[in-house]
Amino acid sequence: MRIPFIAGNWKMFKTKAEAAEFAKEFVKLYQGTDVRTAICAPFTDLELLVEAFKDTNIGVGAQNVHFEDEGAFTGEISVKMLEEIGVDYCIVGHSERRQYFGETDETVNKKLKKLFETDIVPIMCVGELLEERDAGKAFEVVGRQLEEGLSGISKEDASKLVIAYEPVWAIGTGRTATPEQAEEMCAFIREGLEKLYDEDTADSVIIQYGGSVKPANATEIMNMPEIDGALVGGASLKPVDFMAIIDF
Ligand code: G3P
Repeated sequence: MRIPFIAGNWKMFKTKAEAAEFAKEFVKLYQGTDVRTAICAPFTDLELLVEAFKDTNIGVGAQNVHFEDEGAFTGEISVKMLEEIGVDYCIVGHSERRQYFGETDETVNKKLKKLFETDIVPIMCVGELLEERDAGKAFEVVGRQLEEGLSGISKEDASKLVIAYEPVWAIGTGRTATPEQAEEMCAFIREGLEKLYDEDTADSVIIQYGGSVKPANATEIMNMPEIDGALVGGASLKPVDFMAIIDF
């Protein structure tokens, strides 16, 4: 039985002061909740959030990481630096990193391998562009992202994964995939994991849906059998809105 996992992805929002204000209110709202939750925040907020959430079950995640231990990679952050802060999760392969910063299935694979050297849980993002869906290639694209992203990853490590299916055309657009579309792709991802590994490994992976998840649509999405959680962007920025999704 998979435990639902709902994570927020703040993207490039919230200064430290704003993050502290969010944390203070969210910790109060979250009390008494047992839904697995995390906030994936900008690097500058991570240490503050680890401290603010230390007496709760709320996890903290980064939104990206480099796959080298150290080196001349201006502006990058290493896994060791995240580990030192006490980060629990790290998003890898978000479509915005693929679109704007040259992330590829190959770099996703390298980042996963580096993260699996630690206890930091990767949240691996996959998802198709609107033109790929309109061309009937959505499953081909997601299947490739899955296969190439997981190349050489053991079933022991894969079983710890969180995978977020985020149709790019639903991100930040207010155009949410229908629960049926989301379920169909999440079921495809589950089947793909079973082919790459085995049924037990596939069943242990948490598969989230992301893309305009809001309090109004969270329940219907989360009640789909192959969807185990959500990766929430805009609606995770306000404690009350994010809590409403967690309480789906
Ligand atoms: O990683 C989650 C994000 O891409 C979804 O954003 O604003 O559509 O919930 P949003």
